[in-house]
Amino acid sequence: MKELARLNKYLLKYKAYLLLGILFTVLSNIFAIIPAQLVRYSIDYVVENFAFFNLFEGFSIQENFRDAFLLFVILFGAYIIFMSFVRGFFLFLVRQTIIAMSRHIEFDMKNEIYDHYQKLPLSFYRKNSTGDLMARITEDVSRVRMYLGPAIMYGVNLLVLFPLVIGVMLSINVELTLYALIPLPILSLSIYFVNNLINERSEKIQKSLSGLSTFVQEAFSGIRVLKAFVREEDMGRKFADASEDYKVKSIRLTKVNSLFYPLIMALIGLSTILTIYIGGKEVIEGAIGYGVIAEFILYVNMLTWPVTALGWVTSIIQRAAASQARINEFMETETDIISVKKIKPPIVGEIKFENVSFIYPDSGIKALDNVSFSVGEGETLAIIGTTGSGKSTIANLVTRMYDVNTGQILIDGQDIKDYDIEYLRGQMGYVPQDVFLFSDSIGNNIAFGLDETEMERVSAAAKDADVYDNIVDFPKGFETKLGERGITLSGGQKQRVSIARAIAREPKIVLLDDCLSAVDTKTENAILNSLAKVMKGRTSLIISHRVSSAKLADKIIVLDDGKIVEEGTHKSLLAKKGVYQELYEKQSQQPAETL
Ligand SMILES: Nc1ncnc2c1ncn2[C@@H]1O[C@H](COP(=O)(O)OP(=O)(O)OP(=O)(O)O)[C@@H](O)[C@H]1O
Ligand SMILES: [Mg+2]
Repeated sequence: MKELARLNKYLLKYKAYLLLGILFTVLSNIFAIIPAQLVRYSIDYVVENFAFFNLFEGFSIQENFRDAFLLFVILFGAYIIFMSFVRGFFLFLVRQTIIAMSRHIEFDMKNEIYDHYQKLPLSFYRKNSTGDLMARITEDVSRVRMYLGPAIMYGVNLLVLFPLVIGVMLSINVELTLYALIPLPILSLSIYFVNNLINERSEKIQKSLSGLSTFVQEAFSGIRVLKAFVREEDMGRKFADASEDYKVKSIRLTKVNSLFYPLIMALIGLSTILTIYIGGKEVIEGAIGYGVIAEFILYVNMLTWPVTALGWVTSIIQRAAASQARINEFMETETDIISVKKIKPPIVGEIKFENVSFIYPDSGIKALDNVSFSVGEGETLAIIGTTGSGKSTIANLVTRMYDVNTGQILIDGQDIKDYDIEYLRGQMGYVPQDVFLFSDSIGNNIAFGLDETEMERVSAAAKDADVYDNIVDFPKGFETKLGERGITLSGGQKQRVSIARAIAREPKIVLLDDCLSAVDTKTENAILNSLAKVMKGRTSLIISHRVSSAKLADKIIVLDDGKIVEEGTHKSLLAKKGVYQELYEKQSQQPAETL
């Protein structure tokens, strides 16, 4: 249960709700007990006075007596109803405080978890699936909320009601109390076991259901491949199998659920019968009045739900603890990409790699091996290399998605680890290799992260990235929605929107990771020429496996298997007749439009 201790800080924050909730619970219970006592008084009163009433048989005074007698009973009735209203009002307030508190905490927790997720490094996201992350922020938080809301509410109710009711019962008749209460522990235990069974089976259903939805989601997002390979029938069969599994599990749950109410009813019935039987005997012996039996039956009914809740609350708490443990696991994961000094000097844009080596922590692949180079302020460096040679890794290290293992990366002569991370990234315009655009308008995608005042940069950036004409050709222009409910851009258009997004922030350092691979050489040249304008005064790293992207660069490095194999300008490298020249020859021989 120590996992749940993490929640105490929230309980402390909302202690006003909790304390009021406890007060209202006490009040509502007091107003539940008083009517039960009134019932006893009124029944005993009726029984006694009825005998009295019969004594006056044949006398006119009997009429008056009856009126007074009935008035008294009606008054009792009105009083009991009034008490129930008051009780209802307090029950309303109990929910308004404790359940409302649980919703406030749920809100806080979700935000805290989301914020924490965003701080975690890329390596964390490679280790944990998106589904897992989502489950913890939704399902697990909901389970914890069940503890903070219903479990605490019923738990408090239990703690208040039990001593109150049992105290009153014992004060009236000890023997009757003991008999009436015998079935209740059995009820509590059985609810606990049945409820655990229900949870266990529900969880299996949940898993089956999420498997089913993943299957459907994948089938329909990959519908093109599915149709092209004529897999419809096969997929249909697989879906039917998964559905069958879901059905079988659901029916198994129904079986346990069907046990739930009969069980409660049987045990309450047993309690009532015991009360009437033992109570009846005591009445005959003259130990108690009839009213006590009625009062006890009311008490037993009053105790049934809390006793049922005891089993239920226990299993909620267990589930919440398991969920909180999962949440804690992620909350206790700290990012190792940190900055101690957090400096924020104006950045000029000089980048220097000094003997940088890097091994990806999860795969153990050595992606960079003793790499050194430097790019001056406003210069353009092209990084050329074959697939898997470590080009994107350089971009990952410059943006501090990962930290180098050995060596150092300096920006303006300062280790990048000293810079405030958000400030540093804010100075960079990064175009990732795998383009990702949000399901939002094109305009908002380009304006990603810009202030309201900087919106005029959007169309300029689109022009520089050579995608402006494409955008204004759409009927809705920059308002055109992308993604599932909107239009689909071509591969080249996506890349250019991604470039526009990077340059719209007017960064000091531009990182283009293979961002022209989906456009033809002619467009590539056009984009590079218009980018040359933008890149003036900015330091740029152009990553590509195409030599054509490198022509305009001030400097070129050629990577192979994580090592720099050649370094120089386009001209000097061609003259050198090494790897670069070979690549150039090979790529020049390809049909012109693929270059
Ligand atoms: N996130 C990662 N985790 C583990 N290993 C990785 C990761 N990213 C890349 N690698 C490995 O590191 C090596 C270098 O990858 P990198 O992405 O830098 O290559 P690249 O030069 O960009 O290739 P491409 O031209 O295909 O984009 C590869 O062997 C790759 O398998
Ligand atoms: Mg790459």
